[in-house]
Amino acid sequence: MRTVAVMNQKGGVGKTTTSMNLAHALVLAGGRVTLMDMDPQGQVSLGFGVLANGQGGMDRVLLDHGPIADARHQVSDRLYVVPAGPKLGNMELVHEGGSRRGVRLRQAIDEYDTRDEEFVLIDCPPSAGLLGMNALFAADEVLVPVSSDFLGLHGLSRMLQIFQHLEKVLERPVTKWVVLTRYNERRRLARQVREKILDYMPGRLLATPIRETVALAESPGMGQTIFDYEPHSRGAEDYHALADDLCHRRTC
Ligand SMILES: Nc1ncnc2c1ncn2[C@@H]1O[C@H](COP(=O)(O)OP(=O)(O)OP(=O)(O)O)[C@@H](O)[C@H]1O
Ligand SMILES: [Mg+2]
Repeated sequence: MRTVAVMNQKGGVGKTTTSMNLAHALVLAGGRVTLMDMDPQGQVSLGFGVLANGQGGMDRVLLDHGPIADARHQVSDRLYVVPAGPKLGNMELVHEGGSRRGVRLRQAIDEYDTRDEEFVLIDCPPSAGLLGMNALFAADEVLVPVSSDFLGLHGLSRMLQIFQHLEKVLERPVTKWVVLTRYNERRRLARQVREKILDYMPGRLLATPIRETVALAESPGMGQTIFDYEPHSRGAEDYHALADDLCHRRTC
């Protein structure tokens, strides 16, 4: 089982687009996936049309130590989604519990019966608060979507500082992957961003850039992943390739 946090403090870089479409691509490749919505904006929940029911969602898991199995929704044969839940934002206000507050998700995943699960994916909010901290402590791997522009690089360097700090606390390396999003190969800047990442983080950039396409921007509005909305589009092709790439990489 691999737990992957899709994370970047910078907003609007494609975390949610990547979480949803990567989850679906992994399922289409034969995997079993649980996708967790750790963003109080609840866009994964909205995208899959799953709202927290009586059992709540990630809010109940983190605030009340509820089991993940009670909060998840089955959306297809091998795909479960855990919605954010209306109170997830309250997690940032939790003061009691000291450093234990940061490992609640880790504990919940340890208690989750993941025998059959190949992937747990976590869609993170664009902030470095307690929710992000929980995702970082829970994940074996972090996937950082980086938009192919100058500010994207700036966001990545901030993330690298956070990882450095985390690695000191954990006393072990954190496996990091970078995926370029909103990529337009005709733009020189996009190609330069790619080259810079290859230089600074050898072996960490996943080979498939996710191209900027209209269908990827439209599909969430239809409550669909790209594979339901336009299965033969460039977006679907890119997320298939990304899933394949990730499956062939190992934690290190
Ligand atoms: N490859 C792409 N091509 C076109 N549009 C895209 C692409 N990736 C993401 N978008 C669009 O960019 C916007 C931001 O994407 P998304 O919500 O996935 O980012 P995010 O990092 O999750 O944002 P937030 O930080 O608010 O959670 C959305 O409108 C989305 O549809
Ligand atoms: Mg998002």
